[in-house]
Amino acid sequence: MKKYIALTISVLLMICGIDITSYAVETEFVVTASAVCVTNAQSGADLIVALYHGTQLTGVKTYNGMEGTISADYADDMKEQMGISDSIKAFLWNVKTLEPLIKSYSNQINNLPIPAPPAEKPNRVLTVYFSCTNNTKNLAQKIARVAESDIYEIVPEEPYTSEDLNYNSDCRANREQNDANARPAIAGKVENMKDYDVILLGYPIWWGQAPKIIYTFLESYDMNGKTIMPFCTSGSTGISGSLQGLRSVCPDSTVTAGFRGTVSTADTQIQSWLDSNNFSSAIAKRIRLTAGGNEIIIKLEDNNTANSLAAMLPLNLNFEDYNGTEKIAYLTEQIDSSDAPEGITPEKGDFTLYVLWGNLALFYQDFRYSSGLVSIGKVEIGLEHITSLAGTVTAELY
Ligand SMILES: Cc1cc2nc3c(=O)[nH]c(=O)nc-3n(C[C@H](O)[C@H](O)[C@H](O)COP(=O)(O)O)c2cc1C
Repeated sequence: MKKYIALTISVLLMICGIDITSYAVETEFVVTASAVCVTNAQSGADLIVALYHGTQLTGVKTYNGMEGTISADYADDMKEQMGISDSIKAFLWNVKTLEPLIKSYSNQINNLPIPAPPAEKPNRVLTVYFSCTNNTKNLAQKIARVAESDIYEIVPEEPYTSEDLNYNSDCRANREQNDANARPAIAGKVENMKDYDVILLGYPIWWGQAPKIIYTFLESYDMNGKTIMPFCTSGSTGISGSLQGLRSVCPDSTVTAGFRGTVSTADTQIQSWLDSNNFSSAIAKRIRLTAGGNEIIIKLEDNNTANSLAAMLPLNLNFEDYNGTEKIAYLTEQIDSSDAPEGITPEKGDFTLYVLWGNLALFYQDFRYSSGLVSIGKVEIGLEHITSLAGTVTAELY
């Protein structure tokens, strides 16, 4: 009881502006208009964030310290109070041992930097097409509209003239199709290819195959793990004969059944091709972890563990450091990991479940093979923020 009276008095002294600070360690406060992040906090320190209107206290909240880093999304936690407050005080205190105040911070809310808004969610689907006489272009535009995708045209560095396309002669197009190593150069490139999970890939059929410039395109990027859905236009030849060639240049992608369209292709035909090739589920689920104004985006695997976790979201998770290798957070609900292999060798950026303890583990260092560890996903954005994950972290589908 005495402890709490002493604590209350001391906190009140602080709140009233009486500075009893003793600077024991180089603690750093990073404060924005939405969050406080404290690094190098003394072990066991708790963060108290107080809001004021003039000298009047309008709101106060305590955050538990974790291994030297404390993150607090105070503006979110005190939404109502924010509207009536004009200044902020943040200070460290050991609530359990009542050790003296370690360090404090105060400022006018107006002076605080506004954090950058969370990155806009990119489109995960790209329609890519090559077209010399606009047939494939028209179909590609329809497909991009139905699939709500971004669109990109493969433009050859050296455009194809009508002579180049005269297939009844020894034309450029024929020579390229007959040369296994031909890779006509492309002008420009897709800068954000890593954003896309699904590529809807359109081309005219040339001698039963995709033009060689399509091979140039596929070999120019890391297509590993992406789903490629081919479509074509042609005089009469179907698309199926061209798929093997595509699969041979991107063996680590899923190349689905193709679609041959014409000028009169209806939206419903496009939709049924997309549906019958599991277009929607080819777009990966992602999780956003948010703490202290930082965000980490994790691309999920398509397995029971990841799907079962995704179904639990949104969640507030309490992360703590483990072993100088990973940040861990315990789940309160049972997760289904029935299809998981016996173990994995985790790498930096791997998001996992440790089945034996029922905790999530996000690795910021490579580690040895561990049985009972199941892969859930990989960090796509924000690898640099894993080490400062601490305290309450919001996890939601992204
Ligand atoms: C070199 C060349 C070879 C072609 N080979 C075939 C073929 O094997 N089968 C077919 O049905 N059409 C073939 N065509 C016709 C094109 O596939 C058709 O005109 C296509 O719609 C053109 O698309 P684009 O306007 O997007 O360039 C060929 C055309 C060219 C230029």
